[in-house]
Amino acid sequence: MKSFPRSITCLLALTLVSSGQTQTQPTLKAAFSRDFPIGVAVNERQFTGRDTHGVAIITNQFNSISPENALKWESVHPRPGTNGYDFSAADAYVDFGEKHHMLIVGHTLAWHSQTPRWVFEDENGRPLRGTNAADRALLLERLHDHILTVVGRYKGRIKIWDVVNEALSDGDTFNDRVILRQWSPWVRVLGDEFISKAFEWAHEADPDAILRYNDYSVENEAKRKRLIVLIKKLQEKHVPVMAIGLQTHANLTWPSPALEDEALTDIAKLGLPMHITELDVNASAAGQRTQSADVAENARASRDGAAASAEAQAQLATQYTNLFKVFLKHRDKIKLVTFWGVTDADSWRRDGRPLLFDLEGNPKPALADVLKIAQASGSP
Ligand code: XIL
Repeated sequence: MKSFPRSITCLLALTLVSSGQTQTQPTLKAAFSRDFPIGVAVNERQFTGRDTHGVAIITNQFNSISPENALKWESVHPRPGTNGYDFSAADAYVDFGEKHHMLIVGHTLAWHSQTPRWVFEDENGRPLRGTNAADRALLLERLHDHILTVVGRYKGRIKIWDVVNEALSDGDTFNDRVILRQWSPWVRVLGDEFISKAFEWAHEADPDAILRYNDYSVENEAKRKRLIVLIKKLQEKHVPVMAIGLQTHANLTWPSPALEDEALTDIAKLGLPMHITELDVNASAAGQRTQSADVAENARASRDGAAASAEAQAQLATQYTNLFKVFLKHRDKIKLVTFWGVTDADSWRRDGRPLLFDLEGNPKPALADVLKIAQASGSP
């Protein structure tokens, strides 16, 4: 992966504050420049430049971007057939990243969510079946065409791809016969074959891209075991999986620093770089009970109004501090840390006030605390 400048000149950067004044403050990308790039998920208003305040925060604070939605199947490939692709948003996203000299991530190629229904249906709208060889061949052909077309279009420009997202089964009890999410249409039709094929085709389309397996709640012991079983199996078959993405949709009390440390220690044994891919900390009271990345469940669990209180935000700062201490402890293995959104107003868990910038885009106490951790650890 590209290395980032360690120069002391980027130690202090000019940061525009909302009042319009210019202040000298350390920035996230400068503070962690010896450790890992600091990324952020960006939305269409940001990468097309309409959200000017958002763009100012992105370019000041971050040196890597992920597309929050622009490269999901439903965005980039909404219809079947030769005219089925729509690259307007994705092209603008990649242009934005290049213009600002950022490390550009692609998210995501094979996922059960935000994928149009037609992908899993035949021409007559009948669901594809794993018991039917023609159905299997059709779904594999669609996946092949999608990956070759999308990865190929951005070859050499998108440096990291989430190839397969959230394929693992949930649940606190490990059972070695149920590793994958059984109800995923990918699994129902193709079994585990879609995973190895997706990685092989992505590698063929761009041999230099870093190919990532990405999932949530892998701190959970049972899910972590499933991850390790899956990745070891892929490694035995020489499937080109090159990094592990830990989404890290956290809350105020989960994962604890000890659990995060244990998870990173365990996952590192696979011998692959680890990326923190979707970091946020849900500060709502209801959000403390869920570890899910399900969109509707997260929206529900955030909606209790308490997240904005000074107390919840102080706990948020503590949780971010704890997590970054653990990330720094594992900095030789962690090659990227990405936040899932710029400000609380942009977040998919908006009501849980989970990010380092508030609804108006002002820095929160948690930002200062995270910067302090970088300094305390000897980062510039
Ligand atoms: C979320 C986006 O943030 C929302 O805007 C969208 O409506 C749903 O998806 N895991 C992932 C991300 O891998 O793609 C999801 O992003 C959050 C959970």
